[in-house]
Amino acid sequence: MKVEIIPPTEGNFNLEDYQKTYDHFDWSEVEKEFSWYKTGKINTAYEAIDRHLQTGKGDKVALYYFDQTRDESYTFADLSKLSNKFGNVLRKLGIQKGDRVFVFMPRTPELYVSVLGTIKVGAIIGPLFEAFMEGAVRDRLQDSEAVAIVTTPALLPRIPLADLPHLKHVIVVGEQADLPAGVISYHEEMKAVSDELEIEWVDREDGLILHYTSGSTGKPKGVLHVHNAMIQHYQTGKWVLDLQDDDIFWCTADPGWVTGTSYGIFAPWLNGATSVIRGGRFTPDDWYRTIEKYKVTVWYSAPTSFRMLMGAGDELVQRYDLSSLRHVLSVGEPLNPEVVYWGQKVFKQRIHDTWWMTETGGQLICNYKCMPIKPGSMGKPLPGIYATILDDQGNELPPNRMGNLAIRVGWPSMMRQIWKNPAKYQEYFYVPGWYISGDSAYKDEDGYFWFQGRIDDVINTSGERVGPFEVESKLVEHPAVAEAGVIGKPDPVRGEIIKAFIALRDGYEPSDALMEEIRKFVKEGLAAHAAPREIEFRDKLPKTRSGKIMRRVLKAWELGLPTGDTSTMED
Ligand code: WT7
Repeated sequence: MKVEIIPPTEGNFNLEDYQKTYDHFDWSEVEKEFSWYKTGKINTAYEAIDRHLQTGKGDKVALYYFDQTRDESYTFADLSKLSNKFGNVLRKLGIQKGDRVFVFMPRTPELYVSVLGTIKVGAIIGPLFEAFMEGAVRDRLQDSEAVAIVTTPALLPRIPLADLPHLKHVIVVGEQADLPAGVISYHEEMKAVSDELEIEWVDREDGLILHYTSGSTGKPKGVLHVHNAMIQHYQTGKWVLDLQDDDIFWCTADPGWVTGTSYGIFAPWLNGATSVIRGGRFTPDDWYRTIEKYKVTVWYSAPTSFRMLMGAGDELVQRYDLSSLRHVLSVGEPLNPEVVYWGQKVFKQRIHDTWWMTETGGQLICNYKCMPIKPGSMGKPLPGIYATILDDQGNELPPNRMGNLAIRVGWPSMMRQIWKNPAKYQEYFYVPGWYISGDSAYKDEDGYFWFQGRIDDVINTSGERVGPFEVESKLVEHPAVAEAGVIGKPDPVRGEIIKAFIALRDGYEPSDALMEEIRKFVKEGLAAHAAPREIEFRDKLPKTRSGKIMRRVLKAWELGLPTGDTSTMED
């Protein structure tokens, strides 16, 4: 497909003009907005919510919430009081600064209140995606040594309390007749506490949030972000989301993933914008209905969702009034040019791709409103961000050469730790002075970046990052599975799907029933999105002499490509 450049639109930030005037960006200018400029201390939840009460925005709606059974709105003043209350609930339990408190529940107002209240007492919030099953929950709560968790009666059975000696408090949102011993009710506790709270003022380098994400080897890693990240959340809310006072913003991501916190909580509320949260499961109709109902103006979603909507047909779009939309953005995986052209046609909107990662904490390479879009390109780095392409020796490559996408270290929202694993953290910085993203890309002569793929074997299915090792480890727990190798297989809607190659133990025969059973085993042990959609049984899997399964060879088999260098392969 020929790339047609799409001309700029109206917006408030023009990267190209900016670069004509300034040759760098001073992030410390942004700090002047916030309290540490005056007091030397900070709290992100205060800055996101309570600060607006001082400037007369207390009665402004911060959150519209809507699902199959609820339809509610909360002002900044409401969220201030509720999160104060939840902070008091945690204080009463003895939760202190730096403790890890998790939320494991579907998107509801209580989830957002819990996140804000946790941050207000200086604890570190750990969001868990509601689809996680027991094994995934155990790994994350053990690694982080979480002391408290907020959950729902339906999800409670997936928390293996007996295996979690650090977990002292379980708070349940929703009705349950008799709570198990030691489990307390969110609603009861909230009734019993004051709506005034002494906020815990922290240092900008104190821990804020812990997101678990996958790599190609090992268990999921805990990416720690600190309060300082809010500088970038705030500023990208202006530059990239183009948030203005009267915007109604809808980020469709779940807070279990970083987009759902950085841009589902922090960026909009730091900017005092109104946010829409759609809970429950929803159909293509529901997407459009949500935009129409709230007159959403700025919409941040993902390629997999846009492709799903595209698949639902243009006719559906005509049934809704989407004329409120003025800015549409995407993140998480490559945004296909076809989708961009479709967006132009049906929404009369450019879809702006943005690139970043759990580890980067905030957007880094983006398409801005006042910039021409080259469909298929992730755009250009933010002011203050230097991105480049390095070869494997750490040398910068000239335009149009593919290599490692790298960022010069030192942006405000960069992760500060891999939880309890300094060696893993260091792996990202093997070229001194650079953060190596693990993505391959090139930069064209106009400075636009083009994503090419992951350098490691990490799978991106519907925008969710799945580590093949985690799936393989679960697979070999099944009694029939001797060995398993897992790859991402290209898929038109989901980007990639998970495909597992399996060698069975002696005494087991391949069958459809066994395939289904194995799939279910992963689904129930790990998470539905981690279960292989395709399974292929093989007598033997390709391995190195040291016994490592060669996913590269599996991928080549799958795609019918040459297997490349197999000199390290056994026999
Ligand atoms: C990986 C990070 C941060 C938001 C959600 C994903 C891929 C992300 C793009 C994009 C092509 C993208 C990369 C990256 N990715 N944005 N615009 N175009 N690929 O966060 O789960 O940490 O995954 O997602 O491969 O490394 P994540």
